[in-house]
Amino acid sequence: NKPVNVGIVGLGTVGGGALNLLRENAAELSRRTGRDIVVSHVGVRRARPDLKLDGITVSTDIFAVVRDPAVDIVVEVIGGTTTARDIVLQAIASGKHVVTANKALLAEHGNEIFAAAEQQGVYVAFEAAVAGGVPIIKVLREGLAANRVEWLAGIINGTGNFILTEMREKGREFGDVLAEAQALGYAEADPTFDVEGIDAAHKLTILASLAFGIPLQFARAYTEGITRLTREDVSYAEELGFRIKHLGVARRTAEGIELRVHPTLIPADRLIANVNGVKNAVLVQSDPVGATLYYGAGAGAGPTASAVVADIVDVVRSLTAESAPNVPHLAFMPHAIADTPI
Ligand code: HSE
Repeated sequence: NKPVNVGIVGLGTVGGGALNLLRENAAELSRRTGRDIVVSHVGVRRARPDLKLDGITVSTDIFAVVRDPAVDIVVEVIGGTTTARDIVLQAIASGKHVVTANKALLAEHGNEIFAAAEQQGVYVAFEAAVAGGVPIIKVLREGLAANRVEWLAGIINGTGNFILTEMREKGREFGDVLAEAQALGYAEADPTFDVEGIDAAHKLTILASLAFGIPLQFARAYTEGITRLTREDVSYAEELGFRIKHLGVARRTAEGIELRVHPTLIPADRLIANVNGVKNAVLVQSDPVGATLYYGAGAGAGPTASAVVADIVDVVRSLTAESAPNVPHLAFMPHAIADTPI
Protein backbone atom coordinates (compact mmCIF):
# COMPACT_ATOMS: atom_id res chain seq x y z
CA ASN A 1 0.00 0.00 0.00
CA LYS A 2 1.32 3.42 -0.87
CA PRO A 3 1.73 5.99 1.91
CA VAL A 4 -1.09 8.35 2.81
CA ASN A 5 0.05 11.96 2.53
CA VAL A 6 -1.16 14.42 5.13
CA GLY A 7 -1.07 18.19 4.71
CA ILE A 8 -1.30 20.27 7.87
CA VAL A 9 -2.61 23.82 7.64
CA GLY A 10 -1.49 25.72 10.74
CA LEU A 11 1.37 24.81 13.06
CA GLY A 12 0.29 26.33 16.34
CA THR A 13 -0.28 24.34 19.52
CA VAL A 14 -2.53 21.77 17.84
CA GLY A 15 -0.77 21.50 14.46
CA GLY A 16 2.68 21.28 16.04
CA GLY A 17 1.38 18.66 18.48
CA ALA A 18 -0.17 16.58 15.69
CA LEU A 19 3.02 16.73 13.62
CA ASN A 20 5.10 15.54 16.57
CA LEU A 21 2.69 12.74 17.43
CA LEU A 22 2.50 11.49 13.83
CA ARG A 23 6.28 11.35 13.73
CA GLU A 24 6.81 9.82 17.17
CA ASN A 25 4.24 7.08 16.66
CA ALA A 26 4.81 6.57 12.93
CA ALA A 27 5.75 2.89 13.19
CA GLU A 28 2.83 2.06 15.47
CA LEU A 29 0.35 3.98 13.31
CA SER A 30 1.62 2.21 10.20
CA ARG A 31 1.14 -1.15 11.92
CA ARG A 32 -2.37 -0.23 13.03
CA THR A 33 -3.58 1.08 9.70
CA GLY A 34 -1.53 -0.94 7.23
CA ARG A 35 -0.35 2.29 5.60
CA ASP A 36 2.53 4.69 6.23
CA ILE A 37 1.11 8.07 7.22
CA VAL A 38 3.45 10.82 6.07
CA VAL A 39 3.20 14.54 6.68
CA SER A 40 4.21 15.74 3.24
CA HIS A 41 3.21 19.41 3.27
CA VAL A 42 2.59 22.04 5.93
CA GLY A 43 1.11 25.49 5.49
CA VAL A 44 2.28 28.15 7.93
CA ARG A 45 1.66 31.85 7.64
CA ARG A 46 4.83 32.52 9.67
CA ALA A 47 8.02 30.48 9.55
CA ARG A 48 8.56 28.11 12.52
CA PRO A 49 12.34 27.61 12.84
CA ASP A 50 11.79 25.79 16.15
CA LEU A 51 10.19 22.80 14.39
CA LYS A 52 12.26 20.30 12.39
CA LEU A 53 10.54 20.19 9.04
CA ASP A 54 13.14 18.31 6.99
CA GLY A 55 11.64 16.46 4.08
CA ILE A 56 8.33 18.33 4.37
CA THR A 57 7.23 20.94 1.86
CA VAL A 58 6.59 24.19 3.73
CA SER A 59 4.37 26.85 2.19
CA THR A 60 3.57 30.25 3.59
CA ASP A 61 0.73 30.37 1.07
CA ILE A 62 -1.43 28.00 3.10
CA PHE A 63 -3.75 27.28 0.15
CA ALA A 64 -0.79 25.57 -1.55
CA VAL A 65 -1.42 22.60 0.78
CA VAL A 66 -4.97 22.26 -0.53
CA ARG A 67 -3.83 22.60 -4.16
CA ASP A 68 -1.08 19.97 -3.73
CA PRO A 69 -2.29 16.93 -5.73
CA ALA A 70 -0.16 14.61 -3.58
CA VAL A 71 -2.01 15.49 -0.35
CA ASP A 72 -4.76 12.98 0.55
CA ILE A 73 -5.88 14.38 3.92
CA VAL A 74 -5.92 18.06 4.89
CA VAL A 75 -5.65 18.78 8.61
CA GLU A 76 -7.13 22.22 9.23
CA VAL A 77 -5.82 23.63 12.49
CA ILE A 78 -5.48 27.34 11.79
CA GLY A 79 -8.67 28.20 13.67
CA GLY A 80 -11.06 31.02 12.85
CA THR A 81 -14.05 30.87 10.55
CA THR A 82 -13.09 32.78 7.41
CA THR A 83 -9.84 31.47 5.91
CA ALA A 84 -10.46 28.12 7.62
CA ARG A 85 -13.83 27.85 5.88
CA ASP A 86 -12.20 28.50 2.50
CA ILE A 87 -9.45 25.96 3.21
CA VAL A 88 -11.93 23.27 4.21
CA LEU A 89 -14.39 23.89 1.37
CA GLN A 90 -11.58 23.97 -1.21
CA ALA A 91 -10.10 20.78 0.20
CA ILE A 92 -13.50 19.07 -0.06
CA ALA A 93 -14.03 20.40 -3.58
CA SER A 94 -10.63 18.93 -4.55
CA GLY A 95 -11.74 15.53 -3.26
CA LYS A 96 -9.48 15.60 -0.19
CA HIS A 97 -10.51 14.30 3.20
CA VAL A 98 -10.49 16.80 6.04
CA VAL A 99 -9.60 16.51 9.71
CA THR A 100 -10.35 19.61 11.74
CA ALA A 101 -10.17 20.72 15.37
CA ASN A 102 -12.15 23.84 14.60
CA LYS A 103 -15.32 23.94 16.70
CA ALA A 104 -16.14 27.54 15.77
CA LEU A 105 -16.00 26.67 12.08
CA LEU A 106 -18.22 23.60 12.46
CA ALA A 107 -20.71 25.26 14.82
CA GLU A 108 -21.14 28.19 12.43
CA HIS A 109 -20.61 26.65 8.97
CA GLY A 110 -20.87 22.93 9.64
CA ASN A 111 -24.18 22.39 7.83
CA GLU A 112 -22.64 23.74 4.62
CA ILE A 113 -19.37 21.85 5.14
CA PHE A 114 -20.96 18.47 5.87
CA ALA A 115 -23.35 18.81 2.93
CA ALA A 116 -20.40 19.57 0.61
CA ALA A 117 -18.45 16.61 2.01
CA GLU A 118 -21.37 14.26 1.54
CA GLN A 119 -21.80 15.41 -2.04
CA GLN A 120 -18.09 14.93 -2.80
CA GLY A 121 -17.88 11.59 -0.99
CA VAL A 122 -15.08 12.71 1.32
CA TYR A 123 -14.64 12.47 5.07
CA VAL A 124 -14.73 15.38 7.48
CA ALA A 125 -13.60 14.19 10.89
CA PHE A 126 -13.63 16.42 13.97
CA GLU A 127 -12.93 14.52 17.18
CA ALA A 128 -10.53 17.24 18.34
CA ALA A 129 -13.22 19.93 18.08
CA VAL A 130 -14.87 18.93 21.36
CA ALA A 131 -13.34 18.13 24.76
CA GLY A 132 -9.73 17.82 23.54
CA GLY A 133 -8.49 14.29 24.11
CA VAL A 134 -11.82 12.88 25.35
CA PRO A 135 -13.26 10.86 22.43
CA ILE A 136 -16.80 12.13 22.94
CA ILE A 137 -17.60 12.43 19.23
CA LYS A 138 -16.86 8.75 18.70
CA VAL A 139 -18.90 7.95 21.82
CA LEU A 140 -21.98 9.74 20.51
CA ARG A 141 -21.56 8.50 16.97
CA GLU A 142 -20.59 4.91 17.73
CA GLY A 143 -20.67 3.88 21.38
CA LEU A 144 -24.15 5.24 22.10
CA ALA A 145 -25.51 4.76 18.59
CA ALA A 146 -28.25 2.43 19.82
CA ASN A 147 -29.53 4.85 22.46
CA ARG A 148 -31.98 7.70 22.63
CA VAL A 149 -30.18 10.59 24.32
CA GLU A 150 -32.32 12.41 26.88
CA TRP A 151 -29.79 15.04 27.88
CA LEU A 152 -26.10 15.69 28.12
CA ALA A 153 -24.20 18.07 30.36
CA GLY A 154 -20.52 18.81 30.31
CA ILE A 155 -17.56 20.84 31.37
CA ILE A 156 -16.32 21.47 27.87
CA ASN A 157 -13.96 24.41 28.21
CA GLY A 158 -10.67 23.51 29.84
CA THR A 159 -9.52 27.10 30.27
CA GLY A 160 -12.66 28.10 32.16
CA ASN A 161 -12.48 25.03 34.39
CA PHE A 162 -8.80 25.70 35.08
CA ILE A 163 -9.65 29.27 36.11
CA LEU A 164 -12.52 28.23 38.41
CA THR A 165 -10.40 25.47 39.97
CA GLU A 166 -7.43 27.74 40.69
CA MET A 167 -9.71 30.44 42.12
CA ARG A 168 -11.31 27.91 44.45
CA GLU A 169 -8.27 25.90 45.47
CA LYS A 170 -5.67 28.66 45.68
CA GLY A 171 -7.67 31.87 45.88
CA ARG A 172 -5.97 33.13 42.72
CA GLU A 173 -7.19 36.08 40.65
CA PHE A 174 -9.16 35.43 37.47
CA GLY A 175 -6.80 37.38 35.16
CA ASP A 176 -3.68 35.79 36.56
CA VAL A 177 -4.98 32.26 35.94
CA LEU A 178 -6.21 33.18 32.47
CA ALA A 179 -2.71 34.42 31.59
CA GLU A 180 -1.31 31.08 32.74
CA ALA A 181 -3.90 29.17 30.67
CA GLN A 182 -2.78 31.18 27.64
CA ALA A 183 0.89 30.44 28.34
CA LEU A 184 0.08 26.71 28.64
CA GLY A 185 -1.62 26.71 25.23
CA TYR A 186 -5.10 25.98 26.61
CA ALA A 187 -6.87 29.19 25.66
CA GLU A 188 -8.32 30.20 22.31
CA ALA A 189 -6.44 32.79 20.21
CA ASP A 190 -9.11 35.19 21.49
CA PRO A 191 -9.59 34.09 25.12
CA THR A 192 -12.92 35.93 25.28
CA PHE A 193 -14.27 32.81 23.57
CA ASP A 194 -13.24 30.75 26.59
CA VAL A 195 -14.38 33.03 29.40
CA GLU A 196 -17.61 34.26 27.77
CA GLY A 197 -18.84 30.72 27.05
CA ILE A 198 -18.65 31.03 23.27
CA ASP A 199 -16.19 28.16 22.89
CA ALA A 200 -18.37 25.95 25.11
CA ALA A 201 -21.44 26.94 23.07
CA HIS A 202 -19.64 26.00 19.84
CA LYS A 203 -18.83 22.59 21.29
CA LEU A 204 -22.31 22.09 22.73
CA THR A 205 -23.81 22.87 19.32
CA ILE A 206 -21.74 20.06 17.80
CA LEU A 207 -22.54 17.58 20.58
CA ALA A 208 -26.27 18.34 20.37
CA SER A 209 -26.30 17.89 16.62
CA LEU A 210 -24.87 14.38 16.98
CA ALA A 211 -26.81 13.44 20.10
CA PHE A 212 -30.23 14.57 18.90
CA GLY A 213 -29.92 14.43 15.13
CA ILE A 214 -30.52 18.15 14.66
CA PRO A 215 -28.76 20.67 12.43
CA LEU A 216 -26.01 22.85 13.87
CA GLN A 217 -27.72 25.93 15.32
CA PHE A 218 -25.11 27.82 17.31
CA ALA A 219 -27.00 31.11 17.16
CA ARG A 220 -29.84 29.60 19.15
CA ALA A 221 -27.79 28.50 22.17
CA TYR A 222 -28.10 30.53 25.38
CA THR A 223 -24.56 31.59 26.25
CA GLU A 224 -23.23 33.02 29.50
CA GLY A 225 -19.59 32.98 30.62
CA ILE A 226 -17.66 33.11 33.89
CA THR A 227 -16.35 36.67 33.79
CA ARG A 228 -18.78 37.97 36.37
CA LEU A 229 -17.84 35.35 38.96
CA THR A 230 -15.69 36.53 41.86
CA ARG A 231 -13.51 34.63 44.32
CA GLU A 232 -16.22 35.35 46.90
CA ASP A 233 -18.87 33.60 44.74
CA VAL A 234 -16.59 30.60 44.47
CA SER A 235 -15.86 30.41 48.22
CA TYR A 236 -19.49 31.06 49.29
CA ALA A 237 -20.59 28.19 47.06
CA GLU A 238 -17.97 26.01 48.76
CA GLU A 239 -19.23 26.97 52.23
CA LEU A 240 -22.73 25.93 51.21
CA GLY A 241 -21.51 22.53 49.97
CA PHE A 242 -21.53 23.37 46.25
CA ARG A 243 -19.03 23.93 43.46
CA ILE A 244 -19.51 26.41 40.66
CA LYS A 245 -18.95 24.68 37.33
CA HIS A 246 -19.36 26.17 33.88
CA LEU A 247 -21.60 23.72 32.07
CA GLY A 248 -22.95 23.20 28.61
CA VAL A 249 -26.34 21.49 28.77
CA ALA A 250 -28.45 20.10 25.92
CA ARG A 251 -31.74 18.40 26.65
CA ARG A 252 -35.03 17.42 25.14
CA THR A 253 -37.98 19.60 26.14
CA ALA A 254 -41.58 19.65 24.98
CA GLU A 255 -40.67 22.58 22.68
CA GLY A 256 -37.56 21.01 21.19
CA ILE A 257 -33.90 20.69 22.10
CA GLU A 258 -32.65 23.28 24.58
CA LEU A 259 -29.01 24.38 24.48
CA ARG A 260 -27.52 26.43 27.29
CA VAL A 261 -24.11 27.35 28.62
CA HIS A 262 -23.73 29.03 32.01
CA PRO A 263 -22.18 28.73 35.50
CA THR A 264 -24.02 26.16 37.61
CA LEU A 265 -24.06 25.27 41.32
CA ILE A 266 -23.41 21.54 41.72
CA PRO A 267 -23.40 19.60 45.03
CA ALA A 268 -19.71 19.13 45.90
CA ASP A 269 -19.95 15.35 46.19
CA ARG A 270 -21.03 14.78 42.58
CA LEU A 271 -18.45 13.37 40.18
CA ILE A 272 -18.76 16.28 37.79
CA ALA A 273 -18.17 18.76 40.63
CA ASN A 274 -14.77 17.12 41.11
CA VAL A 275 -13.54 17.58 37.57
CA ASN A 276 -10.68 20.01 38.14
CA GLY A 277 -8.09 21.99 36.24
CA VAL A 278 -7.98 21.67 32.47
CA LYS A 279 -9.98 18.43 32.58
CA ASN A 280 -13.29 18.13 30.75
CA ALA A 281 -16.16 15.76 31.47
CA VAL A 282 -19.37 15.00 29.61
CA LEU A 283 -22.27 13.19 31.26
CA VAL A 284 -24.77 11.64 28.87
CA GLN A 285 -28.17 10.35 29.96
CA SER A 286 -29.53 8.02 27.35
CA ASP A 287 -31.89 5.11 27.04
CA PRO A 288 -31.42 2.20 27.58
CA VAL A 289 -27.83 2.48 28.86
CA GLY A 290 -28.55 5.16 31.50
CA ALA A 291 -25.97 7.70 32.62
CA THR A 292 -22.43 7.43 31.25
CA LEU A 293 -19.55 9.79 31.97
CA TYR A 294 -16.52 10.67 29.83
CA TYR A 295 -13.53 12.41 31.40
CA GLY A 296 -10.05 13.57 30.44
CA ALA A 297 -7.79 16.41 29.34
CA GLY A 298 -9.84 19.02 27.50
CA ALA A 299 -7.14 21.22 25.99
CA GLY A 300 -3.44 21.45 25.27
CA ALA A 301 -1.11 20.19 22.56
CA GLY A 302 -0.88 16.49 23.51
CA PRO A 303 -4.56 15.75 24.21
CA THR A 304 -5.77 17.66 21.15
CA ALA A 305 -3.15 16.00 18.94
CA SER A 306 -4.35 12.64 20.27
CA ALA A 307 -7.81 13.37 18.85
CA VAL A 308 -6.51 14.78 15.55
CA VAL A 309 -4.32 11.75 14.93
CA ALA A 310 -7.13 9.37 15.93
CA ASP A 311 -9.22 10.97 13.18
CA ILE A 312 -6.41 10.57 10.67
CA VAL A 313 -6.20 6.89 11.64
CA ASP A 314 -9.97 6.57 11.22
CA VAL A 315 -9.88 8.11 7.75
CA VAL A 316 -6.91 5.97 6.69
CA ARG A 317 -8.62 2.80 7.92
CA SER A 318 -11.80 3.70 6.07
CA LEU A 319 -9.86 4.39 2.87
CA THR A 320 -8.03 1.11 3.19
CA ALA A 321 -10.98 -1.08 4.16
CA GLU A 322 -12.10 -3.29 1.30
CA SER A 323 -15.66 -2.38 2.10
CA ALA A 324 -15.00 1.37 2.14
CA PRO A 325 -18.43 2.94 1.75
CA ASN A 326 -19.19 5.48 -0.92
CA VAL A 327 -21.22 7.46 1.54
CA PRO A 328 -18.87 9.18 3.96
CA HIS A 329 -20.06 8.07 7.38
CA LEU A 330 -17.47 10.20 9.11
CA ALA A 331 -18.83 13.29 7.45
CA PHE A 332 -22.39 12.56 8.30
CA MET A 333 -24.10 15.21 10.34
CA PRO A 334 -27.85 15.49 10.15
CA HIS A 335 -28.89 18.49 8.14
CA ALA A 336 -32.18 17.29 6.77
CA ILE A 337 -34.36 18.51 9.60
CA ALA A 338 -34.05 22.15 8.72
CA ASP A 339 -35.90 23.87 11.52
CA THR A 340 -35.96 21.69 14.56
CA PRO A 341 -36.47 24.15 17.40
CA ILE A 342 -33.76 24.42 20.04
N1 HSE B 1 -9.68 26.80 24.49
C1 HSE B 1 -10.22 25.48 24.54
C2 HSE B 1 -10.42 25.07 25.98
C3 HSE B 1 -9.30 24.54 23.83
O1 HSE B 1 -9.84 25.72 26.86
O2 HSE B 1 -11.15 24.15 26.25
C4 HSE B 1 -9.84 23.17 23.59
O3 HSE B 1 -10.93 23.19 22.72
